[in-house]
This record gives sequence, C-alpha cells and structure tokens, in this order.
Amino acid sequence: MKAAFITAYGPLENVKIGEPPKPEPRKGEVLVRIMAASVNPIDWKQAKGDLKPLVKASFPLRLGSDGAGVVEGLGAGVEGVCLNDDVYFRTPLKATGSFAEYICLPASAVAIKPANMSFSEAATIPLVGLTTLQALQKAGIKAGSRVLIHAGGGGVGSFAIQYAKAMGAYVITTASQKRVDSLRALGADEIIDYRNQRIEDHAREMDIVFDTLGSDVHEASFQTLKKGGVLVSIQGIPDPETVARIGGNALVGGLARLNQWKIRRRAARHGVVYIYHWMHESGSELAQITKLIEAGKIRAVIDSSFPLARLSEAFARSASGQAGGKIVVTLREE
Ligand SMILES: NC(=O)c1ccc[n+]([C@@H]2O[C@H](COP(=O)([O-])OP(=O)(O)OC[C@H]3O[C@@H](n4cnc5c(N)ncnc54)[C@H](OP(=O)(O)O)[C@@H]3O)[C@@H](O)[C@H]2O)c1
Repeated sequence: MKAAFITAYGPLENVKIGEPPKPEPRKGEVLVRIMAASVNPIDWKQAKGDLKPLVKASFPLRLGSDGAGVVEGLGAGVEGVCLNDDVYFRTPLKATGSFAEYICLPASAVAIKPANMSFSEAATIPLVGLTTLQALQKAGIKAGSRVLIHAGGGGVGSFAIQYAKAMGAYVITTASQKRVDSLRALGADEIIDYRNQRIEDHAREMDIVFDTLGSDVHEASFQTLKKGGVLVSIQGIPDPETVARIGGNALVGGLARLNQWKIRRRAARHGVVYIYHWMHESGSELAQITKLIEAGKIRAVIDSSFPLARLSEAFARSASGQAGGKIVVTLREE
C-alpha cells in the first residue's frame, strides 16, 4: 500500500511516499481502507520537528491525523463497528498515518461517517471538530453565550463558527476582509477585519474567546471578555498537565509551568479565566458531531484538494497560513 512518512525531521520536501505492507488489525482495532484524509497544521509541524520536545516519535514516522474510509477488517473483540461501515476518525496522537491507503485504529477512535457527506468532506471534520467541541464545552458554551472565535477563516475557525451557532451562541469572528461573505454564510453574526480593526473595539462582554492564534492575541482578547469570562486556547505552549499527558520532556514541562503561571496571572488581572486545550481522539464525541452534520447544522469547508503524490504541495498550502477552510488529500476516487 502507499503511505506518506519521514525518516528524519526536516524540510517538507523530504516527506516520502513509500510502499509499506498493509497493516493487520490487532485486538480492539479496525482496519480502514482510506478514501480521503485532511491536512492539519500538526502534520507539517510534526514533519519539520516542531513537536520534537513534546511528542516522542520513532522513525520511519507515518503522517496524517484524520480521515475517512471503509472498514475492511476487524480485530478481536471489536464491538459497535462492522465490516463495510463508512467511518471517519482522528488517529491517536502517537499512531498517526492517515496519508496512506490503509490504517489500523482503535475502534474507540472511529465514528460512522455522516450520511450526507462524501468521504472527502467527512475527512475534513474529525480533528477540527473534536478540537472545537472539546474546547468550547470545557469553556462552558451554552445557548446565548457570546463567543469570539479567532481566525474564523481557518480549518478550526470555520468549523467552530458553525458549532457555536448550533449551540445557540452569538458569534463574533476575526478574519481578513475577503472572507466576510463566506463567514456570514457559515453563520457568523459579526466579523472583525483583524488587519484593519482593533479586536477590543469591536467585541465586548464576551463569555468565551476561542484562541487559535496564541499569545499575540491574548491581551486584546482578555479585554473583550466580561468578568469571569473564559479564554480557551489551542495554540502556543501547552499547559503542564498536557505536557505530562503527551510525554513532553522535563525542560518543556518547566517552560509550560512558567508560561501558564504568567498567562494565568495576566488573565486574573482582567478578572477572567485562561484554559489551554490539547484535543484527543474520541469516536463517541465524533458521533455527536455526526448528528449535527446530519441535521444540516454543520458543513465541510474545503479550500483545496491534492492527490497523495502531491502531499508536499498540500503541506505548503497549509503552512502558508492562507487556506480558507480545510485541505483534502485524496487516496482513492469516490
Ligand atoms: N491544541 C490543539 O489540540 C489544536 C488542535 C487543532 C489546531 N491547533 C492549532 O490551531 C491553529 C489553527 O489551526 P487551523 O487548522 O485552523 O489553521 P489554518 O487552517 O491553517 O488557519 C489558517 C487561517 O488563519 C487565519 N489567520 C491567520 N492569521 C490570523 C490573524 N492574525 N487573525 C485572524 N485570522 C488569522 C487565516 O485567515 P485570513 O486568510 O482571513 O487571514 C487563515 O484562514 C494551528 O496552529 C494548529 O496547530 C491546535
């Protein structure tokens, strides 16, 4: 089978496409014939070695964090997933490899693909969808919440706008001027043109800020929150608990503690709360997202599509920071 991998960290042109043997599902695993996968920034960050201090890897390292396909094999003891089911999934962090024709995954990481989406569309959902659902639930989203979503044009942002609207929230998002129409169509109530407008002048009394950009937007974001509001971040140095959970080294652990202490102190000065979130795979949470998609509340937003042979170009597009929505990598014709 064809699969993308690296033999060492380095430039994105070093990503290789090889022909490792087709994997066999072990106990509790399913074998998925992948139809499409999607690019997430973590994929090329991993290839470049940006995650080296955080996540231990062994080489060759297979790349690709989410995708969609058909169940072709079942390991012993698998329940709730059947042969020929159409599924989508986020891989475990330490078992990546969805830029491949086949993958074996824990059955607990897969969910039935939304019936109203193609495989390419479904492949764009798992990582950004689970990130959003977990982060916004941790921040306490509910009907009527006022939510500021940074980078509404990105993969996470374009999902998050739709998810927050589905939860009954009022949504303000930041984006460049060219995205105003498309983000309104996703449901955004207000759009701040971050290149020409000050965020803190246009968003007030927010309950939640969903930060996909990191420390550059923290100060302005804290000012937009009402007292007791929550900034939930998925960008920058993770919190010490996450570093410990994903196996980061002691140096990063120390850095994380210091960083967390500084940000929390700044948040406290504003009377608001800072939380970090690092997403995890979950078939059951993905099934909640399936329901929202099948109810017509969330759709896929696709920037572009590349065959596996052009994976380096797909990575370069994502690394440009200019993609609107998600980038698909197709493994097979639908
Ligand atoms: N912790 C976790 O578990 C987790 C999970 C998922 C993602 N992440 C991280 O979250 C970040 C976002 O991921 P993504 O997939 O959404 O990335 P992405 O799709 O590559 O984001 C690209 C978008 O960012 C927008 N953007 C860039 N600078 C901006 C700014 N200053 N203000 C507003 N928008 C800006 C661009 O919009 P314009 O073209 O309109 O400028 C573009 O549409 C990445 O760093 C990723 O690694 C973390």
